Amino acid sequence: MARELLGALSRQTGDFDHAHDAAVVTRVDARSGRLGADGPRPVHAGERVLPGHRDQKSVGRLVECPDTSSHGGYRDDEDLIASQRVYYDLRAPDFGDVSAPDRAVPGLMHKSTVRALVDEFRPEGEVLELACGPGTFTRELERYARSLTAVDSSQQMLDRNQRESRSDRVRYVREDIFTWMPDGQYDVVFFANWLSHVPPTRFDDFWSRVARSLKRHGRVGFLDEDERASEYDDSLIVGGVPAARRTLRDGRTFDIVKVFWRPDDLEARLRSRGWNARVRRVGESFLFGVAEPPRQPRRQRWPPERGARSG
Ligand SMILES: C[S@@+](CC[C@H](N)C(=O)[O-])C[C@H]1O[C@@H](n2cnc3c(N)ncnc32)[C@H](O)[C@@H]1O
Repeated sequence: MARELLGALSRQTGDFDHAHDAAVVTRVDARSGRLGADGPRPVHAGERVLPGHRDQKSVGRLVECPDTSSHGGYRDDEDLIASQRVYYDLRAPDFGDVSAPDRAVPGLMHKSTVRALVDEFRPEGEVLELACGPGTFTRELERYARSLTAVDSSQQMLDRNQRESRSDRVRYVREDIFTWMPDGQYDVVFFANWLSHVPPTRFDDFWSRVARSLKRHGRVGFLDEDERASEYDDSLIVGGVPAARRTLRDGRTFDIVKVFWRPDDLEARLRSRGWNARVRRVGESFLFGVAEPPRQPRRQRWPPERGARSG
């Protein structure tokens, strides 16, 4: 279904709202956090409800991120992933332009904070940036990196990044992160404003791809909105996946994956997967994390050392 949806979206014909017909959409009233159409009642992930109308004036609220693992059948995270790819490609020229907001409240990080966080993290050596977008972070990472590889699925974003970064030291790679195979091992992997777009169902797979792309003493740095930013959004549950609605300058709307993590929940989740992670709040609506991958199990010596027990 996702391939058909992506094809339909990519043709960019007329109204894109059929994207919502294709997905199972739970409409959530932005103010109460309850289902609007059928009267107030609590929302359960995976409910099948017909799409409703968006309250344009309201500022969104968080629908608690459910543990979708109990619902099975994640058909629709593929649809959302397809929708967000197309959305960001079309949004690329306007990305970061507060005069053309794509949601109730834009949430950009101040340039001086971006710079200070990168200075603190010191991304030295061979660096991989995932979901690089138009280059806000690429330019900062480049100040430290010996080499920099920037990955994004959107050609428009990569072109804009290349145009605005004007660096011949950045290698641009167009890849879908959900299917991407790491092409090497890096000292640092960095991603900003990306983790919130990873469906909970893909969380472990994503982090194992990151682990595979790191050298032995490699580090990960990441930054994103935290749960305080959910106030800025209209939140939905689409097929069991936390999502948010975005509007292009021309009025077309798309649903994208949007998971608002609490820093301590995210840190605990990563630690439970063996990562040595520290995640903290930054400013009024962001989190910043640093993580080292789980230790590889030590390779068995062969033949076993003398005196080692066998059997
Ligand atoms: C919120 S933007 C963040 C851009 C940049 N890191 C920043 O903070 O300014 C998300 C980026 O993810 C990219 N993206 C979306 N889906 C993707 C996918 N499946 N694979 C790779 N990149 C994707 C978009 O094209 C976009 O550039």
